[in-house]
Amino acid sequence: MAQIETLSLLGKPVAESLYSALQPRISSLLTKNITPALAVVLVGDDPASKLYVGSKTRAFKRLGLISETFNYPATISEDELLGVIDKLNADPRFHGILVQLPLPGAIDSNRVLLRVDPLKDVDGFHPTNLGLLLSGQPRYIPCTPHGILAILEHYKIPVAGRHAVIVGRSNIVGKPLMALLANKWERGNATVTICHTGTTDLAQYTRQADLLVVASGRPGLITADMVRPGVDIVDVGMNRVPDDSEKGYRLVGDVAAEEMLGRAHSLTPVPGGVGPMTVAMLVHNTVAAAELTAGGSGSA
Ligand code: GUN
Repeated sequence: MAQIETLSLLGKPVAESLYSALQPRISSLLTKNITPALAVVLVGDDPASKLYVGSKTRAFKRLGLISETFNYPATISEDELLGVIDKLNADPRFHGILVQLPLPGAIDSNRVLLRVDPLKDVDGFHPTNLGLLLSGQPRYIPCTPHGILAILEHYKIPVAGRHAVIVGRSNIVGKPLMALLANKWERGNATVTICHTGTTDLAQYTRQADLLVVASGRPGLITADMVRPGVDIVDVGMNRVPDDSEKGYRLVGDVAAEEMLGRAHSLTPVPGGVGPMTVAMLVHNTVAAAELTAGGSGSA
């Protein structure tokens, strides 16, 4: 049998076409003197979080949008942080609010996320927005799962009728993606299995996947023997593995990518796959939030 040529599903071209599609909506807001504006709340100095926030800010600046970061020390109290959110909720300058996760252990993330005005919740993490998504009437779709859908659509990777296996049950990726892929709509209608650290014999499930999405945070968790030939794989992992380069580390996904070449039908690379799409969808949601303020449809 001829070897499969594994497609590399790059995120950048998909992000660029989304930015082009957003351009008329942005221009129309600008003519009304509305510049979509995001407030980013960054607590502590986790290097990975700083890196994420930096790439989000650059994308906003490049498109002429506003992104302002509010930095607080890791020692900020939960009540003080709730006060910050209250102020941003009431501040008409900002259409969107993003609280960068993870927050320091002493802070109850759920309480903080619950405090964000659901209409400004461009991350889609507020229980109201997660509930709307679960019930099939999404408002703001969380950025990473939304970006994954856009990649699948762009590269014409089928979803409907297939068996999608998701590894990871986070509120940020696994759970919202489960709803998006299972809901009855043109980009869903898959049969979904969700695996996690409590799954016994993970490989038994991953081997059944037509579409495998891995968001486990464990470098190289998925090896070639755990997938069937021809599988489509989305690797959401972004792990720093120490090496002797100048930076002292390299970024790897949750999938042993080199083993998948010639076996998988397609694979999103790390970096350069899902990452650029998360940022693009944040821009998309912030534009939608600005449109809501302007009395538009704000189609998210
Ligand atoms: N931390 C890792 N991914 C994300 C994300 O998409 N949004 C926020 N707010 N924090 C994150």
